[in-house]
Amino acid sequence: MNRRGFLAAVGAGAATAALTGHARAKGKAPGAVDTPFFFIQMADPQLFWGSQESWATAIRHANRLKPAFVAVCGDLLNRNGNPANVDLAKDERRAKAYLEETAKLDKGIGLYNVAGNHDVCNTPTAESLQWYRKRFGKLWYSFTHGNCLFLVLESDVMKNPKGVPDTAGKQMKWLRGTLAAARGKSYRHKIVFMHHPMCLKAVDEKSVYFNMPLELRKELLDMFSAHGVRATFSGHYHRNVYVKAGDIELVTSASTGKALGKDPLGFRIVKVYSGRIEHTYYGYNDLPDRIDLTPAK
Ligand SMILES: [Fe+2]
Ligand SMILES: [Fe+2]
Repeated sequence: MNRRGFLAAVGAGAATAALTGHARAKGKAPGAVDTPFFFIQMADPQLFWGSQESWATAIRHANRLKPAFVAVCGDLLNRNGNPANVDLAKDERRAKAYLEETAKLDKGIGLYNVAGNHDVCNTPTAESLQWYRKRFGKLWYSFTHGNCLFLVLESDVMKNPKGVPDTAGKQMKWLRGTLAAARGKSYRHKIVFMHHPMCLKAVDEKSVYFNMPLELRKELLDMFSAHGVRATFSGHYHRNVYVKAGDIELVTSASTGKALGKDPLGFRIVKVYSGRIEHTYYGYNDLPDRIDLTPAK
């Protein structure tokens, strides 16, 4: 896929964690990640609520660090969450600012967009989803890198499906089918990107604005566990949060452009090895000069 197609298809406190165990899916044994690699997970640039300057800083650091790819976990821009109040002219300027800056990402670095509630509205409509698709690409999709499977989900449709119930059903069918098909492959890791955190403190916490609804959360986590998903990476909370659900890491990262807590503006570096992943959130001022993929002892 060329870069344009690629872009179209995809559109602190430091928290570090490593996993040594691995929830193996039934089926073929996982293969190896021949060459360790790292990617960058960003969240909530949310232009123009989030600073444009910070977004430019994030892209500049990505070019300097040279990850395999960048995944931006939603709220690319700051569309009004209520479809009745969207301002199409302003949204066009916000979208243009996002796309122009991300176009500066070096050609060798993949970009994977994830939709958030400030991209498709809190309760998505057919129109709000179409608006997003035209500018940023697919709402849900998968891709592979280094013998790992990455799944991008549209969590707004999952959380608030009433405006587009058929679309919500379609995504769940796709998700089940994609995970089932992956059983026959030897992916070393399966990793999910979505805007909403699964949960903030505990897997059985009650449903609130910032997490996935409890029943849906249980359904997804059961599915992810059965299929050996290693981690989910999210945004939306504009703060760093880490919860472990059995063998699955539920990781939420602070924002690249608008802080709502004590965590600095920045992004997360995720290192991928055969036996584990390691991830650390960095404020822009704390980023290393280069990423060392030598396995930690
Ligand atoms: Fe959000
Ligand atoms: Fe946000």
